[in-house]
Amino acid sequence: MKDFAGKIAFITGGASGAGLGQAKVFSKAGMKVAIADIRQDALDGAVGEIAAYSGAKGSDILAIKVDLTNREEYAAAADKIEEVFGGPPHLFIQTAGVNSFGPAEASTFDDYDWVMGVCLSAVVNGLVIFVPRIIKAYAGKTECHIAATSSWGGWIAGPTTAPYSAAKAAVNNLMESYYVALKPYGIGASALCPMNINTNIWETERHRPERFKNSGYNTTEDVIDLLKEHVSGGIDPLELAERFKRGIEAGQVFIVPYPNAYEIVSREQERVRNYTSPDGMAKEEAAEQFMIKMREAGAPVPEGIAVLEKKGPKVGFGKARTDIDWVDASRKFIGK
Ligand code: NAI
Repeated sequence: MKDFAGKIAFITGGASGAGLGQAKVFSKAGMKVAIADIRQDALDGAVGEIAAYSGAKGSDILAIKVDLTNREEYAAAADKIEEVFGGPPHLFIQTAGVNSFGPAEASTFDDYDWVMGVCLSAVVNGLVIFVPRIIKAYAGKTECHIAATSSWGGWIAGPTTAPYSAAKAAVNNLMESYYVALKPYGIGASALCPMNINTNIWETERHRPERFKNSGYNTTEDVIDLLKEHVSGGIDPLELAERFKRGIEAGQVFIVPYPNAYEIVSREQERVRNYTSPDGMAKEEAAEQFMIKMREAGAPVPEGIAVLEKKGPKVGFGKARTDIDWVDASRKFIGK
């Protein structure tokens, strides 16, 4: 999709962080922008921010409060967009998400249901609700695109990121499926796969709904503070949205928003290939031992996780809830 002006964008999670950055950038590109979020206070603040950034008039920005895991509410949001803007979105971006980290083996149903509910089931809801509307309104007539904000977490299998990584890997796969399926209709599809972004996701645990409160993870205020410090080193949401827009314009299925995207994805694919043979398993084991020795000898931790690796053990980041005493306490955030 290359022409945005005068068209309609719908961005979930558009009241904060990455979604807000996308709303600003596509509003500035001349689109009518609808945003959806579960937090009314965040929506109220976002509308003014978007208008101030893009210069759009108030009638071209629509804020809708919705819990995207609720199908009736999500379908009502789709109706609202058509009612106010006169049609479904030409650009549909599902960015809302939550995260929570802790040992896979300590994960509870609540951890899975909350994280996968928002990061995966809600994305499925959006696809089922919106894709038929988009095809009926625009196929063969004008350019359209659907996308989801996935994560680099979808390319890795982390010992402390199981629900999140599983959801994001599934989102990557879904976007590729829809890319193939929607091509004949002239509709593109992409998954945005960033690493660290400077957003408000560090405080998402504070908004975990009451019905999902039984977590197996250590989610203390100290852990939340550390996450804040970690994400503050991430890419700016506006810069990320600009890179995302360029990826959409180029029709990329996977938008890994870094200059070395090809190399870093290749490394993850090499790991998967290695896991398919005894020789490959030995190679991975040797690589792991090499990394351990390098770290012991003082090699720097990758920048993106340096804060977590340095301060995490002290505050119990990525650990199990303190009353769970059977989990390996030496667990690292990423890596075995
Ligand atoms: P954020 O917390 O600033 O924004 C996420 C928004 O989603 C929040 O406003 C929140 O209220 C909303 N939300 C959560 N549950 C919802 C629900 N059930 N219904 C409607 N809205 C809901 O976080 P951020 O970082 O902007 O997250 C956006 C996306 O970026 C997420 O999918 C996240 O997984 C992804 N991501 C974030 C990274 C980071 O380092 N911050 C890294 C890679 C991916």
